[in-house]
Amino acid sequence: MTTVTRQAPAGRAAVIAGIGSYVPPDVVTNQDLTRRLDTSDEWIRSRTGIATRHVVSAGTATSDLAVEAGQRALKSAGSADVDAVVLATTTPDHSCPATAPAVAARLGLTGVPAFDVAAVCTGFLYGLASASGLIAAGIADRVLLVAADAFTTIINPDDRTTAVIFADGAGAVVLRAGRPDEPGAIGPLVLGSDGSLGNLIEVPAGGSRQRSSGRSAPLEDHYFQMRGRDTYRHAVERMTAASLEAVERRGWTMADIDRFAAHQANARILTAVSDRLEVPVERQLSNIEHVGNTGGASIPLLLSQAAQDGRLTAGQKVLLTAFGGGLAWGATALHWPVLTPF
Ligand code: UT7
Repeated sequence: MTTVTRQAPAGRAAVIAGIGSYVPPDVVTNQDLTRRLDTSDEWIRSRTGIATRHVVSAGTATSDLAVEAGQRALKSAGSADVDAVVLATTTPDHSCPATAPAVAARLGLTGVPAFDVAAVCTGFLYGLASASGLIAAGIADRVLLVAADAFTTIINPDDRTTAVIFADGAGAVVLRAGRPDEPGAIGPLVLGSDGSLGNLIEVPAGGSRQRSSGRSAPLEDHYFQMRGRDTYRHAVERMTAASLEAVERRGWTMADIDRFAAHQANARILTAVSDRLEVPVERQLSNIEHVGNTGGASIPLLLSQAAQDGRLTAGQKVLLTAFGGGLAWGATALHWPVLTPF
């Protein structure tokens, strides 16, 4: 097991200065899914908490979602001036090159460093670590961090265990250099991984392992595959432990937490984690019913929507946690800053 806990060096921290999100307009209902899969609205609602989800239309790529969310975060920050772009995604436009440079160019940011972070559903938290590092090291003063996934593009449309859960969306934050004691300052971040369980969540084919073998792979191996039951168990354990550690490292207790924003993996996972952490239902943020599991985009999409509809307000103590393929997990706690979300 590898768990890394770091606090930004005293004096210079990454501070959230803007937030925005985007979901594509097309909506798929549970009823729509029952027309082509052996499933039911009742099964999907009771096992996952999902009723509807947004999906990309033909020809739409992750960068299209990322650009929309990025524009909104820059507008929220009140300035398009950033000196690095980090994109967390599991569904890059191409397997080579990274998608972040294309996003940066389309946002008028040609020339700034831009790179992708691959941490599946924990991508936003790993992206926060990358962006905070750039700021703490003095490499950048303002970073645009986008988490975007066109997850349905890697889902097997005939696999009812994943097709009912995963969906598409994007969320973004602008981070600026500031002080660790300011509202919106990131840190401490708790991050971990366990690659010995990498096969719980994977796309088996299409990478160097399969391509170097010279053997073709069955079509289903080019799609996302998940061992749901085992993943569920690890998700609950890891998000609970990471959350407790993040809160403790921050010097808070769980009773201090005003809002809990966990990766929207499955409503039952969220309930199980919240029960273990004893987070009352009115402090839990959730949007899974209407957006499904949007992979790495999940947390910033949730934060942006909750800030827009007033469930999340300045001054609240917020706990974030995520878990997903890798395996990779993480958590952090922060004071929500004064922001105009888009
Ligand atoms: O975001 C990254 C991390 N991802 C997660 O954390 C997701 C974790 N896992 C899950 O959310 C859940 O495990 C699932 C929602 C994927 C599955 O729920 P479950 O309660 O664990 O169901 P199960 O896999 O144990 O399957 C129970 C039954 C099976 O039938 P039998 O063997 O009992 O006859 C499945 O074949 O439900 C069946 N089933 C379905 N039935 C109707 C599986 N998917 C469906 C479906 N509709 N869509």
